[in-house]
Amino acid sequence: MKRKMLWGSATASYQCEGAWDLDEKVESMWDRYLHENGLENGDVASDHYHHYEEDIRMMAEGGQNAYRFSLSWPRIIRDLEGNVNEKGLAFYDTLIDTCHRYHIEPFVTIYHWDLPQYLEDIGGWQNIETAYHFEKYCETVFRHFNGKVRFWSTFNEPKWFIFSGYMSGNYPPCHRNIPEVIRGSYNVMFASALGVRKFREMKTEGEIGLVASYQTIYGLDESTETLNAMRHADNYCNNWQVDTACLGEFPSDMVDKLKEQGYDLSFAKEEELQIIRENTVDFIGINYYSPMYVKPYTEGETLVKTNNQGKNYKGDLRSVVKGWFEVANDDMKDIVPHNPWGMFVYPQGLYDALTRVSSYVKQPIYVTENGYGAYEEISEDIDDQYRIDYIREHIRYMLKAKEDGVDVNGYFVWSPFDLYSWKNGCEKRYGLVAVDFDNDCRRIPKHSYYWNKSNIENDFIDLRKEEKQMRNIVLVCNGGMSTSILANRIKELGGDGVEVNAYGEQEYSQHLKDADVVLIGPQIRYLIDDIRKRVGENVPVASIEPRVYGAMNAQKVLEMVDELLKDSK
Ligand code: NOJ
Repeated sequence: MKRKMLWGSATASYQCEGAWDLDEKVESMWDRYLHENGLENGDVASDHYHHYEEDIRMMAEGGQNAYRFSLSWPRIIRDLEGNVNEKGLAFYDTLIDTCHRYHIEPFVTIYHWDLPQYLEDIGGWQNIETAYHFEKYCETVFRHFNGKVRFWSTFNEPKWFIFSGYMSGNYPPCHRNIPEVIRGSYNVMFASALGVRKFREMKTEGEIGLVASYQTIYGLDESTETLNAMRHADNYCNNWQVDTACLGEFPSDMVDKLKEQGYDLSFAKEEELQIIRENTVDFIGINYYSPMYVKPYTEGETLVKTNNQGKNYKGDLRSVVKGWFEVANDDMKDIVPHNPWGMFVYPQGLYDALTRVSSYVKQPIYVTENGYGAYEEISEDIDDQYRIDYIREHIRYMLKAKEDGVDVNGYFVWSPFDLYSWKNGCEKRYGLVAVDFDNDCRRIPKHSYYWNKSNIENDFIDLRKEEKQMRNIVLVCNGGMSTSILANRIKELGGDGVEVNAYGEQEYSQHLKDADVVLIGPQIRYLIDDIRKRVGENVPVASIEPRVYGAMNAQKVLEMVDELLKDSK
């Protein structure tokens, strides 16, 4: 089926609506937790509850044709008995009607982390009953909105809310308990399958998917130990969401590993696993922001750290999953660019994510989130060039994946306007439009809003057409697999703009004459003076840092080439 490309933006109810106790909405687990602990909260957030019309109009005027938002469960279902709050449904009726009026496709998430507190009180995601309550909630919203919504997602980022709630302990209910991580993950994937089953039983119009958080995994070298660590990290971060939703099975090597480590998985009942198998999704949403670098596990108990303090964060981010892998992000932080929250900016990771997922999953893909969080001063003229650069490069890689055959059908910027970023508060701004939180939540479009508008209008055609200057890179190294892998990655990344040839110590000298730039592998950097003499002053020569080389970081190498060529002009 040929699908219309969706160019939109995404939010979540708790992060933008505000109106936390208005129109008979009941308390969510986030309301309770943030109020009890006196933390910055989403009581008002971006006040989308009252600004929705302006926000949707701005999306349409900004060229967007889709809006991904979530329904607030505690706004719609009042209690454990399943009593419905008609005022909650009425709010979403108006929101959806407004989308249609502006020719915006509503792309609806059923659960984006704001669990009703009455469910947390019975054990939240630890209690399988919550999955059945989710099924009933789905039934209510499918019945009510049928025909008005074509794209539904059961859950947003199961990995993120489960692991933050039960492993890192920085989200409610703030536990640190691995059996709870396992149980919670299982219950959520089961709940998702129940939602999909209900959707089909009720013959609801449209399609239903799941939105996964995706961190593309890279290793620091190619040893068998690193490849194993990468597989574990991929299971940990990505596969248990994507495989389970799309193929109907938890990754079998992950299940074996958990058993081998002595975790009790006997709670998983055959009839539940059958429901998971039979109710796979129609599409998969991928939220990609950053990659993760990993190395083999050495020692220590499981410990996962998160930076919720941005530039004020002082500690390291050393994280370990016992027996599985260690996070090597700290090893890469001088090599790969990152934002003030320590999140790497690596657009090729989106290409790698999309090609990897589509290599084994038949469902169409949507990039359901991607965006740049920054500290920003409010003014009438917010120059967020870094956000434009970030979005442009990610879209470029998404389009390249599409050209290479990946069935990707939409891209949603996180977020259309600034909102409350969970534990990062409102300081971490992602919006194309600024929200002046201190002045009645006034909206002010940033440069990225106008940039996005002009590019959507021509379907990002200019981006696709942009010619890259041809660069001929000669890579001198001591041969071996890693060199050819690095050369191939540079070629892939540079596309038509790059020619790369790798030569060993014996043969390089005859190939220097066509080089625009010569790069030398770290082990044979002693050749640098000889090569400089041979190529003369006009051709830059440099050696690749061992860590860049070891991690086969093609993006860094290309940046290095650009720098060298710029300086040599
Ligand atoms: C993922 C989540 O879906 C969203 O709630 C969050 O605010 C953004 N990413 C940015 O971190």
